[in-house]
Amino acid sequence: MKIKPFKLERYYTVNEFSARYSLCNSDSEAMTINNLLSFEEDAKDKFHNLWLGYTESKGHPDLRRDIASIYAIINPENLLVCTGAQEPIFLFAQANLEPYDEVIVQSPCYQSLQSVPESIGCKVAHWNVKYKGDKPTFDIEKLKSMVNSKTKAIFLNAPHNPTGFHFSKEEQQAIVEIARANDSIIFCDEVYRELEHKPEYAIPAFADAYENGVSVGVMSKSYGLPGLRIGWIASQNIKILEKVAVLKEYTTICNAGPSEFLAGVALRNRKKILERNLDIIKENLPLYDAFFEKYNDLFSWHKPNAGPVALVKMHFDTDDMAFAERVLKEQSVLLLPGGVYDFGGFFRIGFGRTIMPKALEQFEKFVVANLVKA
Ligand SMILES: Cc1ncc(COP(=O)(O)O)c(C=O)c1O
Repeated sequence: MKIKPFKLERYYTVNEFSARYSLCNSDSEAMTINNLLSFEEDAKDKFHNLWLGYTESKGHPDLRRDIASIYAIINPENLLVCTGAQEPIFLFAQANLEPYDEVIVQSPCYQSLQSVPESIGCKVAHWNVKYKGDKPTFDIEKLKSMVNSKTKAIFLNAPHNPTGFHFSKEEQQAIVEIARANDSIIFCDEVYRELEHKPEYAIPAFADAYENGVSVGVMSKSYGLPGLRIGWIASQNIKILEKVAVLKEYTTICNAGPSEFLAGVALRNRKKILERNLDIIKENLPLYDAFFEKYNDLFSWHKPNAGPVALVKMHFDTDDMAFAERVLKEQSVLLLPGGVYDFGGFFRIGFGRTIMPKALEQFEKFVVANLVKA
């Protein structure tokens, strides 16, 4: 199998742990195992007495029950627990797509959603973002014109990385109708689900909303626990899941037992964790509002209504990759250049972490020294 290098992950692998101030994280603030175990009285004891044998390939039944509680229709039998979100993205495509299958990918995108189907030999068409001023939008009529009876799958990401865009319930319903009319699968990466900034922005999971919908969820982003490496794939269509389960026996076989246990604790207490993570976002967002207002001749953005990331447009002539490299070198601030998404002229920012205010302060030093005219 030939697959393109994953530009975004390469960029993080090289730069993430050497930068002092990250301004572009896509996860929420993490916590320690001790913090997590303190949510339940007997959790510490149970954790220390956990049996370190192999675990069920599908995921522990208790964990699948905890995951199912996030969904309306999806039950534990409609779920397969995996390693992070990356594994189910990879396995879904490998197990369910064939060479020459036609797929549509919401773009720009988290690269595996595009590169894994490409590596299989699928014909990939892009449903591109359209900017109305600073506001990212995805045109449903355009999607309708792209989908036909040969469309095997539509790859979505909601809330969306990198734009911060999120579908309304009406848009979601319209997409489901388009897919249903053409018997297409909807594969939706929902790693930022439950991180809507107000409850009214929440929409159903695509796995609940559509009989051929597939949702991917993970502990990494909204819940801020990427070190657990626990994710899952959900669908009412058991055939899709079974194909993934058979292939998983060639990748990770089963999940890490300690991580499964800790993920269960987190999910049973997820309302409290989400409240804490949303509070951080609500403190951070006004700082960006003020910053982009102050430097509106240089940058513009649209404040998202869900998730921990947004794209910033640069209003001066520069190569975004070179710009990010200079900011990193001079102020040890990590930005994510649009180039890693093949989407130049922008950079991605994050606002889910407590380091963000300090990172923005450092970035401002760069802006004042290099971009503001005296
Ligand atoms: C949209 C999206 N999907 C999937 C992933 C992968 O998640 P994980 O690291 O938990 O495998 C990421 C991580 O950045 C992401 O942003």
